[in-house]
Amino acid sequence: MEKQGDGMDFETIVIREGRAEIIVPKLDYYRVSPNEYVPSKAPVFYNPLMKENRDFTVIVANVIRRGVGHRLCFGDSMAGVGVRSIRVLTEAEWDEAYANDVSQRAFATIVMNVKLNRLEDRMHTSKTDANIFHVEHSLSGSRFDMLELDPFGTPVRFLDTCFQAVKHGGVLSVTATDTANLFGVHKRAARMLYGVNVLKTGFMREIGVRVLLKAVAEAAARNERGIEPIVSVTRRHYVKVFVRVLKGRKHAFKSVSQIRFLKLRRVEKIYEPIGVVDVESCEKDFLLLGPLYTGQTCSREWLEKMLLQETEGTLINKDVFRTLETLISDDQKIVGSIDLTGLASSLHVNPPPRSLIIERLVKEGFTACRSGFDNNCVRTDAGLDELVRIIRSL
Ligand SMILES: C[S@@+](CC[C@H](N)C(=O)[O-])C[C@H]1O[C@@H](n2cnc3c(N)ncnc32)[C@H](O)[C@@H]1O
Repeated sequence: MEKQGDGMDFETIVIREGRAEIIVPKLDYYRVSPNEYVPSKAPVFYNPLMKENRDFTVIVANVIRRGVGHRLCFGDSMAGVGVRSIRVLTEAEWDEAYANDVSQRAFATIVMNVKLNRLEDRMHTSKTDANIFHVEHSLSGSRFDMLELDPFGTPVRFLDTCFQAVKHGGVLSVTATDTANLFGVHKRAARMLYGVNVLKTGFMREIGVRVLLKAVAEAAARNERGIEPIVSVTRRHYVKVFVRVLKGRKHAFKSVSQIRFLKLRRVEKIYEPIGVVDVESCEKDFLLLGPLYTGQTCSREWLEKMLLQETEGTLINKDVFRTLETLISDDQKIVGSIDLTGLASSLHVNPPPRSLIIERLVKEGFTACRSGFDNNCVRTDAGLDELVRIIRSL
């Protein structure tokens, strides 16, 4: 018979992340060349570079903790070494966590880490497929206040069951690392997995966020739930969205009504966003990208609350707060943005500073801000012709 702890048949080290002390596979397992580490090669997945991804979870969990007085329960469907759950319990002071992973070695490591952090009475472990884990937590009374889905690659085949395991008003956090699909590099896979037609535009990170939110909103709707995005981030090789889950058809209808197409015009190598439309057919000279989630991808109220934590001496990376500041400075009223570096290069000029262009656009009466997702991009209601005129004049 299998015993808890079976599977620790590899060398480990103990490290610290935030307030968690964790046993992880020895770093040499990750090494594919002297300076290159690949966590998926290790017997149990732990990527130190993804601390920032877990930092976002901890900040959101902290905002929730401060907003409610009742017991809070966190679900971690694909927990790896269990570090995220440990941090939610110790840094955001949640009451309980359920950490699950299908791998025996991961499960054994989580069990050891629970003991190391003395969380036996608050942290529960399991070893099953994530979809089963979600269904096991789908009855009222066993649902989570927040559920984390952090798979290898695309999350699509786990999304439907997620919605059964989150309470009304709770939060679902989803990470996707299949950025080639989300960013329009692998168009056929994007169509197959996400049901979208995407192109690789200069604002591909924003597109990636909207493709993932579209898949999340549709899965919610199939389960008669709606979503309200609270924060969406895209860094390195991942896209991550946090959404509030609201039970009922009214909410489902509202969030799927945001799934629409983005009309684009292509001028040489530059894609100019023209506006959001419903139709599937399109006039000559224009392209349709989507369908995408075209509503707000972040909530200003949540971002403000998350940013308050910066002054509290937390163990969160400073970079994480810089990302939140960039998101809050993006007014998001327009879908899509224009890649200034690409545009300047097609005009054979050096790209002027983005802040200068934004200043000029605003002075001329246009709305303009930096994109919170794509560096070098400006979100504006000015057309490409106006931007070309301004760039040439600077
Ligand atoms: C990207 S890693 C998760 C890392 C972890 N969330 C963290 O922050 O360190 C993906 C994990 O999912 C587990 N996994 C893969 N397929 C699974 C499935 N169908 N159900 C549950 N866990 C699964 C893997 O064993 C691996 O530990």
